[in-house]
Amino acid sequence: MQIKFKTAWRTQVPVYLALTLIYLLLFSCSKRQAAEMVPTPAPPEEPGTSVTYNNFAKALFQTKCAGCHSAGRGAAAVWTLNGLSSITSNKTRIQQAVLVNKSMPMGGTLSAAELKSLQEWFDNNMPE
Ligand code: HEC
Repeated sequence: MQIKFKTAWRTQVPVYLALTLIYLLLFSCSKRQAAEMVPTPAPPEEPGTSVTYNNFAKALFQTKCAGCHSAGRGAAAVWTLNGLSSITSNKTRIQQAVLVNKSMPMGGTLSAAELKSLQEWFDNNMPE
């Protein structure tokens, strides 16, 4: 009896460990993918519609920057996102970080379409 139990235990432990590992791997992947699937603001669809703060930029800054740059967050000291004026008054630094160096958003990326719309918005002098 005892021997049987010990043998079963020995063969089952690695199986449980393997299952736990597989579960952890799958779980961490799906979490990462979920983070990447955060809905990104869609640039205005109709051709000829110009990019504005309200139809594009606001949502982009909220989803891509607010996590670190809103009041009380880790990078608020370097730049605090707080509405349109916090962007217009830091235009040069933001353009540099996002469009030139592409160092922001830290740990993330903007799609080509997002970069294009953002560039257009800055070029048009950040209309509301
Ligand atoms: C994961 C956190 C994080 C996210 C997301 C993030 N930032 Fe930052 N940002 C930082 C940190 C940390 C610094 C300071 C260190 C540095 O400059 O690399 C910083 C610095 C900056 C600076 C100052 C650069 C300078 O040298 O003057 C600007 C402007 C900026 N970020 C804009 C943005 C914008 C715009 C977005 C969204 C498109 C964004 N950041 C997204 C963490 C973040």
